[in-house]
Amino acid sequence: MALDIYAERLIQYYENPHNKGKISDASVHLHEENISCGDTLTIYLKFKDNKVEEVKFEGDGCAISMASASMVTDFIKGKSLAEIEKMNVGTVMEVIGIDPGPARLHCATLSMRAIKGAVFAYEHKPLDSSTKEM
Ligand code: FES
Repeated sequence: MALDIYAERLIQYYENPHNKGKISDASVHLHEENISCGDTLTIYLKFKDNKVEEVKFEGDGCAISMASASMVTDFIKGKSLAEIEKMNVGTVMEVIGIDPGPARLHCATLSMRAIKGAVFAYEHKPLDSSTKEM
């Protein structure tokens, strides 16, 4: 079944994470936490010509949050700040390939919240409504 393929892919990303680590000369970094469970994620972004040149994350969380962080950080490489600003819950679902359901939505969107929060902070803009809803 398709869901099994996506679940397997998720486990593979969790066990073999992409983009784990820290960028010492990041343009911006941001720490995000799910208050309901205490899981944490810090995102490091380095920009060049207003695009993501490098992205890394450190975190401690459940399989969905960490696998999603791997996939979402892969996805945003080369994206412009304006493109990231427009990303939302739908973008996360598309990238991870599953709808985790309302109970695990905060897990799947933890990294995107951190990424968008970092971009908005970098640009000295307030968070948009789609980020606040995640
Ligand atoms: Fe905390 Fe998933 S249970 S992020």
